[in-house]
Amino acid sequence: MTRGRAPGKVILLGEHSVVYGHPALAASIGKYVTVDLEAASEVRLELPGGIQTPYPLLEAVLAMARDAGHPGSFRARVQSDIPLGSGLGSSAALGVALARALKPGCAPAEAASLAMRVERVLHGAPSGVDPAASAHEGVIFFTRGEPPAVERVRGAAFIVVALSGIARGTHSTVLPLAERRKADPAVDRLLSRLGTLAREGRQLFERGEMEELGKRFDAAHALLREVGVSCEELEETVAALRKAGALGAKLTGAGGGGAAIGLARDRTHAGEIAARTGGFAVEVRA
Ligand code: PMV
Repeated sequence: MTRGRAPGKVILLGEHSVVYGHPALAASIGKYVTVDLEAASEVRLELPGGIQTPYPLLEAVLAMARDAGHPGSFRARVQSDIPLGSGLGSSAALGVALARALKPGCAPAEAASLAMRVERVLHGAPSGVDPAASAHEGVIFFTRGEPPAVERVRGAAFIVVALSGIARGTHSTVLPLAERRKADPAVDRLLSRLGTLAREGRQLFERGEMEELGKRFDAAHALLREVGVSCEELEETVAALRKAGALGAKLTGAGGGGAAIGLARDRTHAGEIAARTGGFAVEVRA
């Protein structure tokens, strides 16, 4: 048997704009997907909670096994403590954990690249930021490409993740945004401002300037709302994080539901915000 394990992620700044070539600041979080692989007579993927494996996902796993040079058939058992459909990277972590189970010892860039097979099925047109954040771990500054550019970012921050209570698939906001972008030239300007916030955010993160970084979180959320990827429940979650004392708050990931993040000054502050909002505190660090 082989085992692969990979963490979930949060996008600190740059979701959606990263799809259009702007950079994003993302970090792994201490919640994991684990895949146990053993030889079997036919290929099977057993998802947690008895969820039926969609056929395209099984096909993607077969293609990944071929790319990874894995011989023969196998049964892959998946366990996860990452909430599904919450923008916390469960599908990317599944892809990276599978890659590691299929090809033990593979380098982060290769695991991320193999995981794109799964991402394409579950996400439609992914930028690749999620598997990169999961595979490289720590904090990364990511720009899409063939191959993508991944820079490690120094520093640390405490954030609080709060779930909006609405589960959704990434397709549900990425594809409609692509349509709006075609019809409305203003969308590109907003995406470009999101990219600028990610660049500024990276510098502030490295310098530990949390108050200023919090302001970038707020500004990014306003832009994401303007491009139409927020929803009422996320607005309430972001407002609750701010009311609980977050230095700034925003949706994280694709939006349309899923999770929001609030920035805290330190560990104690994060614990207080988490207690007030029902969220959980996470330290993101290099
Ligand atoms: O699947 P999520 O919620 O982590 O969203 C991924 C981030 C997007 O920028 C919205 C899509 C992408 O592939 O970059």
